Amino acid sequence: MSETVAEHWNAVYGRVGERSVSWFQEVPERSLAILDRLAVDTSRSIVDVGAGASRLVDELIQRGFGDITVLDVSGAGLDQARARLGDSGAEVRWTVHDVLTWHPGRTFEVWHDRAVFHFLTAAEDIERYLAVLDRATRPGALVLLGTFAEDGPTHCSGLPVSRYSATALAAAFDGYELVQSWREEHRTPADAVQAFTWVALRRP
Ligand SMILES: C[S@@+](CC[C@H](N)C(=O)[O-])C[C@H]1O[C@@H](n2cnc3c(N)ncnc32)[C@H](O)[C@@H]1O
Repeated sequence: MSETVAEHWNAVYGRVGERSVSWFQEVPERSLAILDRLAVDTSRSIVDVGAGASRLVDELIQRGFGDITVLDVSGAGLDQARARLGDSGAEVRWTVHDVLTWHPGRTFEVWHDRAVFHFLTAAEDIERYLAVLDRATRPGALVLLGTFAEDGPTHCSGLPVSRYSATALAAAFDGYELVQSWREEHRTPADAVQAFTWVALRRP
């Protein structure tokens, strides 16, 4: 039987500690800089899709965001963040679910995805992601996405990824307005450099 997406990622988080994964960031500087650049107020509802053990949630709590949802297909990844935060994470909505089949039952004003969308290499999976984004947001919502850049890695955690220029990434979200794009050179814990493309899009 083939490994499910959840089994794959639970095994990844079970094998190595939070600080050893290639995507680890002590502080998610780029994501925070984008929130600052776009003057995203702490009253905005925000979902971090495929958050894993990311420390973005710590920073959002620290800044005073009051409506934070964190979703990941891997319960093991989210557990690392929950354990780290303890009581201060009590108000966060922790959601173990595959983003491609998620029915949030509500909408968010800010959608954040760092290094998750690029794992979607089949056109039908991208369509499913866009359908979820459509039901999880309303016009005016901000969509903040970070993927490997055209000269970034071809694989991550044993899985192939799609690599994007800012133009190609924005084009994948047909009809969304490109607000701004950035390039980031992420340094991994093993001291490798990975090029990322970031875009901020606005839902029309
Ligand atoms: C490279 S990690 C990035 C984690 C986090 N966004 C960060 O920047 O630290 C990719 C994450 O996406 C999650 N993931 C992969 N496919 C997913 C899916 N279909 N639905 C939800 N989460 C998924 C994995 O479990 C993992 O936590």
